[in-house]
Amino acid sequence: MAKPKFYLTTPIYYVNARPHLGHTYTSVVADTIARYKRMCGYDVVCLTGTDEHGQKVERAAKEAGVTPQEFADRISAEYRALWRELDLPFDRFVRTTEPRHERAVQMLFRKAQDQGYVYKGGYEGQYCVFDEMYVDEPLPGNLCPECKRPTERVREENYFFKLSAFQERLLELYEKQPDFVQPESRRNEVLAFVRGGLRDLSISRTSFKWGIPFAADEKHIFYVWYDALTSYMTGVGYADDEVEFEKYWPADVHLVGKEILRFHAVYWPAFLMAAGETLPKKIFAHGWWLFAEEKMSKSRGNMQYPQPIARVLGVDALRYFLLREMVFGQDGNFSRESLLTRYNSDLANGLGNLASRTLTMIEQYFGGRVPARPAREENGRDAEVEKLKHEVCEEALRYYETYDFSRALEAIWRLIGEIDKYLVEFQPWVLVKEKAKWGRLEMVLYQAYDALRIVSVLAHPVLPHATQKIWEQLGNSTPISEQSMKALVEQKANGAGERQAFQIGKAEAVFPRVDKKEAFERIEAMEEEIRNPAAASAAAGATAGAAAPSGAVAGAAKIGIEDFAKVEMRVGVVKSAERVPGADKLLKLLVDIGEEVRQVVAGIAVAYTPESLIGKKVVVVANLAPRKLRGVESNGMIVAASTGPDGKPVLCTFTEDVPAGARLK
Ligand code: MSP
Repeated sequence: MAKPKFYLTTPIYYVNARPHLGHTYTSVVADTIARYKRMCGYDVVCLTGTDEHGQKVERAAKEAGVTPQEFADRISAEYRALWRELDLPFDRFVRTTEPRHERAVQMLFRKAQDQGYVYKGGYEGQYCVFDEMYVDEPLPGNLCPECKRPTERVREENYFFKLSAFQERLLELYEKQPDFVQPESRRNEVLAFVRGGLRDLSISRTSFKWGIPFAADEKHIFYVWYDALTSYMTGVGYADDEVEFEKYWPADVHLVGKEILRFHAVYWPAFLMAAGETLPKKIFAHGWWLFAEEKMSKSRGNMQYPQPIARVLGVDALRYFLLREMVFGQDGNFSRESLLTRYNSDLANGLGNLASRTLTMIEQYFGGRVPARPAREENGRDAEVEKLKHEVCEEALRYYETYDFSRALEAIWRLIGEIDKYLVEFQPWVLVKEKAKWGRLEMVLYQAYDALRIVSVLAHPVLPHATQKIWEQLGNSTPISEQSMKALVEQKANGAGERQAFQIGKAEAVFPRVDKKEAFERIEAMEEEIRNPAAASAAAGATAGAAAPSGAVAGAAKIGIEDFAKVEMRVGVVKSAERVPGADKLLKLLVDIGEEVRQVVAGIAVAYTPESLIGKKVVVVANLAPRKLRGVESNGMIVAASTGPDGKPVLCTFTEDVPAGARLK
C-alpha cells in the first residue's frame, strides 16, 4: 500500500541578511517533524527556500554595490551551506528567482484574475519597506505600527486583489477548521483581525524593479508576498508537474514565526480561494528566540549564530537545546549559560552517561551479550519501570503530534532519570559479585538496555546522529531511522520488547562532558569571527560589548552620513572599574556620560589596570542595545583602537578639556 504523504514547509527566508539562530530554529523544527513523520510511515516532503525579490533586497544589494541577483545568489548559497553543515536535508529548496517559480506565480494569478478577483486601481499612502506592506494607520511621525520604522509615502497605480470579498469565507474556514491556525492564542489574533474588516490588497508594484513582472503588463511587478507564498506550490510542481502537485498539495503544515502569521493565515488562503486551489491544512506560528529580552534580528544586531554551537557541542546538542528550551509557540530566551548547563546535565550526564555505563556493564559482566529478560526475576519495581516505558512512549508520541517538543523530551528524559535511579537502587556492580544474584543482574541490565533502545528511537527525530551511534552500540545494523514509532508503542502496550540475546557493539561516549568556561569562550570567539570576520582576527583584545555589525554581507559599500548619525558617541568619565571574575580581558566600568552613569563592560583588561582608568575621559557608544558579557550587562561600548592580532587595545581619549556627555560628531 502506498504511504500517506506529509508535506511541510518553513518560511522561505529573505536574502537581505545572513541566516542566524532564529532562522535555524524553524528549520530544525521542520526537520524534526519530517524525521518523526517518516518514522510514523509517511512519505514526507519538507520544503525551504529563499525569498529573493522586493525592495529590501534591491536596496541591500545597492548598498553592497552588486546586482540584486548577485546579492541573492550569495546569501541563498549561504543558507544552503548552513543547512548542509547542520545536516538539515530539505527535500525541496525553492528560490523565487527560478523560472519554474515565475511560472507558478503567473498561473496562480491568472486563475484569480479569471475569476474576477483582480482589478486595477490607484493607491496613495504610507508604505513600510521593512515589512513590505502598506500602512493605513501609521503611528505619529509616520512610523510603522509593526516595526516602528519610518514609513515612506507612495503613490502608485496598482493591481488590487479583492481581499474584502473573502472576509466571510475566511471566518467560516476558521470556524469549521478550528485547528487551521495554531496555537489557539494566535488563532484568536487572526480572528480578531479578520472580524475587524478586510480591505483590498495591492498586489503589484511599479516604484522599483526587482520582482516578477506581470505577464500582460510588464511595468508592474508582483507584490513580494504574493510571489513568496506561491513558492510553497512551486516546490511541489505547480504549473510544472501535475502528478507531483496532485500527490503533495495541499501542504499539511506551514511553520512560521508569529510575525508573519497574518500573511499566511489571512492573505494566503484568500489568494488560494480566489484561484480555486486547495488550502493548506494548518498554519503553525511559533514564538521568537530572544536575546537579552529582545527579538533576535538583524535590525537589532543581536543575532546569535548556530555554527559555533554546532562546532563546539555538535549538531545534536544545538537541536536538543532549541527544542527542549523553548515551549513551541511561546518566546524563549537564549543564553549560552543555559545551553552549556543543559548540555552537561541532560546530554553528557543524562543520556550519554546512561548509555556508556549500561553498555560497559554488559560488556564486562556478560562479554557483550545482551541478557534476555528472565521472567521469573520480575519484581514490583520492574513492573513499575515497564509501565513507565509504556507511558513515556505514548506521551512522547502524543506531544510530537502537537509539535510540543519540549514536553516530548521531558517525558523521554523522565525515563532516563528513572532508569538511573533503578540502577542505583539495584546496584548491578554488587549483584555481579554473588553468583546466586546473576539472574537478578540479567534482569536489571536487560531493563536498562531496553530503556536505552526505547529512548533512542523516541529521541531520534531530535538527536539523529547521537541516537544512531547509540543504536549501533546497542548492536543494531539497520539504520535507526527505519524503526517504526507505531510498532514501538504497540510493542510496549503488549508488554513486549527485545527478548533475544545478542551482541552489542563498542561503547563510546556520545556526549563528552565539556568544561563550561572553555566551551563558552570558544563559542564566543567563533561568534565574533562570524559577525565580523575581518575585525575578529585584528581586534583580539579590543573593546567588548561592541555593536555587532548588522550581519550584512562582507564587502558592503560605504555608509552615508545618515547611517553614521545613528551612532550616538559621548564623552564619558570613568567613575569606577573592576575586573569581571573569570574573564581575563574584561573590565566592568561605571562611566558618567552626562545625564546618567552607565555600566559598560570593555575588553581592555590586558592593557589597562582598573585603577589607571579612574577619572579618565573615554568615548562611549551610548545607543547600543544592552548585551551581557559573561553574565554582566554592558550598556554601551568604549571605543579603542585595535593594534593588530596580538596588540593591546588603546583607548580613544582627549587632549583638551571636554565635559562628560558631550556628543562626538
Ligand atoms: N521571507 C519572509 C517569509 C516568506 S514565507 C512565504 C520572511 N523571511 S525572514 O528571513 O525574515 O524569516 C522569517 C522567519 O525566520 C520567521 O518567520 C521565523 O520562522 C524565523 N525567525 C527569524 N528570527 C527569529 C527569531 N528571533 N526567533 C525565532 N524564529 C525567527 O519573513
